[in-house]
Amino acid sequence: MKTLAVVGLQWGDEGKGKIVDLLALEHDVIVRCQGGSNAGHTVVVDGEKYALHLVPSGILTPGKINVIANGVVIDLAGLVGEIEGLRARGVEVSGNLMISDRAHVVMDYHRALDRAQEAKRSGTARIGTTGRGIGPAYADKYRRSGFRMGDVLDSEFLRRVIVDRIEENNFLLSEYYGAEEVSLEETLASIEHAAEFLRPFVTDTALHLRRFVSEGKRLLFEGAQGALLDIDFGTYPYVTSSNTTTAGIPAGTGLPPSTVGEVLGVLKAYTTRVGAGPFPSELEDEAGASLRDRGGEFGTTTGRARRCGWFDAVIARQSVALNGATGIALTKLDVLDGFESIMLTTAYELDGNSIDSLPAAASALERCRPVYEKMPGWNIDTSQARSWDDLPERARRYVERIEELAGCPVTMVSVGRERSAVIMRDMQG
Ligand code: IMP
Repeated sequence: MKTLAVVGLQWGDEGKGKIVDLLALEHDVIVRCQGGSNAGHTVVVDGEKYALHLVPSGILTPGKINVIANGVVIDLAGLVGEIEGLRARGVEVSGNLMISDRAHVVMDYHRALDRAQEAKRSGTARIGTTGRGIGPAYADKYRRSGFRMGDVLDSEFLRRVIVDRIEENNFLLSEYYGAEEVSLEETLASIEHAAEFLRPFVTDTALHLRRFVSEGKRLLFEGAQGALLDIDFGTYPYVTSSNTTTAGIPAGTGLPPSTVGEVLGVLKAYTTRVGAGPFPSELEDEAGASLRDRGGEFGTTTGRARRCGWFDAVIARQSVALNGATGIALTKLDVLDGFESIMLTTAYELDGNSIDSLPAAASALERCRPVYEKMPGWNIDTSQARSWDDLPERARRYVERIEELAGCPVTMVSVGRERSAVIMRDMQG
């Protein structure tokens, strides 16, 4: 059985979409297991840029099966729009997409609550969510008040149950948050329209996935967000509301944990974060602005400028361990091309002590200061490198230092947006 999980090892935006798109070529089935349209996977194929939010990146490769599994929360209108947008650009979306009947639906009131909650939080309490209703949708799932894809296809059931839910959420919205209520009729109309559009795709994906495994098909699990946004092990409460590590795969698909084979962790050659929360290696100076400009660090989903900082090996080590990563894909190495010298965070200083793991409390992490190691930059354009030997010696040393510190081999290095801008290191030496 050959499965591969591709997961983010930082705060998301590591460039997973590009890696998945490339690896999809050698897999049969591409599966999204968690998250929702908070994710934004940018993929460039033949100079065409695609921003995917819910549809797995494998959709851009003809002949692949793409699965949105039960652990994902689905924004119905968003998904319809995404499918229509792909079709308008000539991408086939038909029998090659399956949506779980157990996946929860993000309702209008979830989005409204997400925004109202953020607006009410002040100062450091603000999480900086994507405003896509993710937290409230998962909260309803766990308090057993959610609607699943199978439910919204049953119009009679939906109409019977939704009245109470809307009443409850409208009470919260207007009475507690002072926000606008959602309309029952508009909510119903938009759900019913989207549900009809999506009906042909909805199925028991867990059954299909088990069959694919028994048929020897090659599965690729496409992670969304990153390990530091994991609801359990991320920088809580500045996290998303799902398990973003490989632990989320079994529950999010209905496949047993033993199905997870190889795990490729994606790390950016430096660190970025969108939204609020502690970020020990953040650079609020010229170097940070330079990383943002050179790296085009603006969110795919919200367009927000990303916070930037040097590579953080404390994070990399923890995330490799949490995910059981067997290899690392290091992305955006070319963004570091012009720097005279490059810093790596190897440990933190917390209240006068040196620590090499992340403290659980956000307040403690906020007080952590990076302990840097300085490496010389290479000052050479690496964007055309296609083999390990094409990279300048100093860039190779940087990559080797990362694998030493992270405790995991770097098997792929990405130096540009195109599919071809990748060095497959395990094959090249
Ligand atoms: P939410 O997932 O929209 O609730 O947002 C919670 C936190 O996760 C915020 O800091 C978001 O910026 C962050 N986040 C959610 N999805 C992504 C992503 O795909 N990439 C990067 N950050 C994300």
